[in-house]
Amino acid sequence: MIQGVFSTPLVFSMLLLSIESSCDETAAAVVQDGRSVLSNIIASQVATHAEYGGVVPEIASRKHLEAISFIIEEALREASVTLSDIGGISVTQGPGLAGALLVGISTAKAIAYARKLPLIGIHHIEGHIFAAFLEQKVEFPFVALVVSGGHTHLYRIDGFGRYQILGQTLDDAAGEAFDKVAKIIGLPYPGGATIDRLASRGAPKTIRFPRPLLHDGSFNFSFSGLKTAVMTYLRKNPVSDDGILLENLCASFQEAVCEVLVSKTAAAIADTGISRLVVAGGVACNSGLRSGMKKLAVEKGIDLYIPSPLLCTDNAAMIAVPGDYYLENGVCSGLGLDARASWPLDTVSVER
Ligand code: KG4
Ligand code: ZN
Repeated sequence: MIQGVFSTPLVFSMLLLSIESSCDETAAAVVQDGRSVLSNIIASQVATHAEYGGVVPEIASRKHLEAISFIIEEALREASVTLSDIGGISVTQGPGLAGALLVGISTAKAIAYARKLPLIGIHHIEGHIFAAFLEQKVEFPFVALVVSGGHTHLYRIDGFGRYQILGQTLDDAAGEAFDKVAKIIGLPYPGGATIDRLASRGAPKTIRFPRPLLHDGSFNFSFSGLKTAVMTYLRKNPVSDDGILLENLCASFQEAVCEVLVSKTAAAIADTGISRLVVAGGVACNSGLRSGMKKLAVEKGIDLYIPSPLLCTDNAAMIAVPGDYYLENGVCSGLGLDARASWPLDTVSVER
């Protein structure tokens, strides 16, 4: 179904203004033809939410409102363009915090209406997966492992809008597990990157944490038991002043998470017979995961695509990749576009 302000396919080189506000980053980007990033501006609210130990939805919406106009102006300024040069707008439609999403969506709709520009609502995880396209040429089909604060999913990707779930977490997402363990050991939110740093100084074999669902034959994950194992270990082994125990604990925890992620991904690759792999989402910044996946790729002859860290965490440039594809093919969202706080990726299709 084609809806919206424009319904004719756009065939010329197109500059997209892209907006992302699904969680605690207000982001805007200008991207040419869904591939060349002319600007990618991100305002993080992390410091504000750290005080509360996690994202406070109400505060997130207010902070997005305060930042969004400035961030869009910055994105246009850095790309050395004005709104008159923009050919279309892509915006994260969901999943995410409803109030936070609405700030980006309302802003995108206002600009689309005022400038008579085509508008497309994009699935946040679709953006994460296609971030890899901003740096490398990736052929279809491929297997995608998405590891973020809210997702741990294995997908088979056959094209834009052609997504099949192979497996997913049954409880906590990988990023959530990192953040919860960080909280247990007293690190500020979000603690994934800090655990990664501490782990680099620790010995991963010192504590044997469980590898949940490693040999269950599915492509599913479970991380909540691992978090409990860390709590139990700390109750029995209080942290010493020199911090060595903490570094070893982080290294051992990270190794357990990465071993499961790599092993399940390897099984999905073997099962599908697809030897192309994209690893995406904030946890794809993790050094242990990146090196584990590189090792797997060399051993099994897999073409591996992991975006640069800045394109793994939330940003607006990634939203422009599917945005450009849909608009180029005449698929638009109407101005009735609404936030979808919960939205399974496998229900997304080219026919919006
Ligand atoms: O994709 P993202 O920016 O936002 C969501 O869509 O959730 O991912 C954020 C998650 C957080 O849980 C954060 O702790 C985690 O990514 N993360 C990391 C690292 N950098 C970010 N986890 C482990 N190691 C890292 N280096
Ligand atoms: Zn994300």
